[in-house]
Amino acid sequence: MEHTTQNRLDGKVALVTGGSRGIGKAIAACLAAAGAKVMITSRKADSCEAAVAELSAETGGDLAYEAGNVGRVEDMERVVAATIDTFGAVDILVNNAATNPYAGPVIDADLPRWQKTLDVNLTAPLVWTQACWNAWMRENGGNIVNISSVGAFHTSQILGSYDISKSALLHLTRQLAAELAPGVRVNAVCPGLIKTDFARALWDGGRGDDVAQGYPLKRLGEPEDIAQAVLFLTTDSSSWITGQEIVADGGGEVGFPRV
Ligand SMILES: NC(=O)c1ccc[n+]([C@@H]2O[C@H](COP(=O)([O-])OP(=O)(O)OC[C@H]3O[C@@H](n4cnc5c(N)ncnc54)[C@H](OP(=O)(O)O)[C@@H]3O)[C@@H](O)[C@H]2O)c1
Repeated sequence: MEHTTQNRLDGKVALVTGGSRGIGKAIAACLAAAGAKVMITSRKADSCEAAVAELSAETGGDLAYEAGNVGRVEDMERVVAATIDTFGAVDILVNNAATNPYAGPVIDADLPRWQKTLDVNLTAPLVWTQACWNAWMRENGGNIVNISSVGAFHTSQILGSYDISKSALLHLTRQLAAELAPGVRVNAVCPGLIKTDFARALWDGGRGDDVAQGYPLKRLGEPEDIAQAVLFLTTDSSSWITGQEIVADGGGEVGFPRV
């Protein structure tokens, strides 16, 4: 048996939602560096434009953007069409964009923010998958990675609504993996605390030091830590893996209890 690295994506086209900053931007960079052509999308066109300019220079790769809100079906249709128009395919979809508009007990959650959480974090990954399946993957095969969270495994005093959406996203991952096989693999990555704007309130000003000490690997995550897990799941190195999640959390899930 020949042992070679298969961590290349030459000739593939990837679409990364929420690709203008944070984890999504690192994923876009990593996939482009591995040879994929990458379309990024987020709500703000100027942020996308800046990210594409930076990542093109950094990776020497072929990147483009089309702005849109993942929660709006008309935006999704335009972004998927632009990906195929620009690069001729959509082989890889990374459902990375998410929202967390409400902090507090689920019992007190107001319906509009509960609904928005589910729309963006759960329904959008399904709808974007349906669009890529119908436009390309049903005929040509493909690969989907959903960005969930270790919050999917726990209860929380403040993040309950968000965590429920991320937990359901893991089951959506399993369901779609069963439905779309053998042509399309569907997997997920569950990050622990990563130093991005999204989670700034949890780590800025030394607030993350305690969390980092609780992680067996003794540091918080960087966007690149998640990007490398996504790269593995999108390449043929993982060609016999579908419907699974990789937990990338500095070992937080296996850390000793604090008491
Ligand atoms: N950071 C963590 O500790 C952590 C932990 C576990 C899981 N995660 C997950 O990792 C993923 C990325 O998070 P992050 O920390 O990288 O967040 P981030 O730094 O805030 O970046 C979020 C990205 O998503 C875009 N975005 C937000 N809402 C959008 C919408 N409705 N439509 C389109 N684009 C949208 C943002 O750009 P625009 O503002 O221009 O739209 C931006 O590009 C999320 O799924 C999050 O739940 C993060």
